[in-house]
Amino acid sequence: ATIGISLTINGEVRELQVAPWTTLLDLLREDLDLTGTKKGCDHGQCGACTVLVNGTRINSCLALAVMKDGAEVVTVEGLAKHGGQDGAMHPLQAAFVERDAFQCGYCTPGQLCSAAGMIAEGHATSREEIREAMSGNICRCGAYTNIVDAIEDVMH
Ligand code: FES
Repeated sequence: ATIGISLTINGEVRELQVAPWTTLLDLLREDLDLTGTKKGCDHGQCGACTVLVNGTRINSCLALAVMKDGAEVVTVEGLAKHGGQDGAMHPLQAAFVERDAFQCGYCTPGQLCSAAGMIAEGHATSREEIREAMSGNICRCGAYTNIVDAIEDVMH
């Protein structure tokens, strides 16, 4: 049996039928073809699946879709719109390009959504605090220095 839920995804209201065990990550990727959000570990260890739910960053692999009924979800596909600049990249996306803050790019959608959430949280100000606040997002290519550079560009 499926359960009816309503989600606002990247500004669009979607009425959805989901199995009770479907994660938000699988709903986004498999049902809605929003494959920008990546599945790395599927158990909360890597951060590749990070999206914003009601403005807060979460690992979408750990969230059951039915638990988010009524929520507002922003994925990397909606980040530009979320940044409020018509047709332009989100400032974080532009900074990641400028700073070469990726190598293979697999972790990048999660890094971007996590950075957006971290900035909204407002706790991290120093480089050390940014590194700590972004420590849930693993980059196997080791682009960390450039990732922090890019985030600092946006914050200052
Ligand atoms: Fe969700 Fe790794 S896929 S944390």
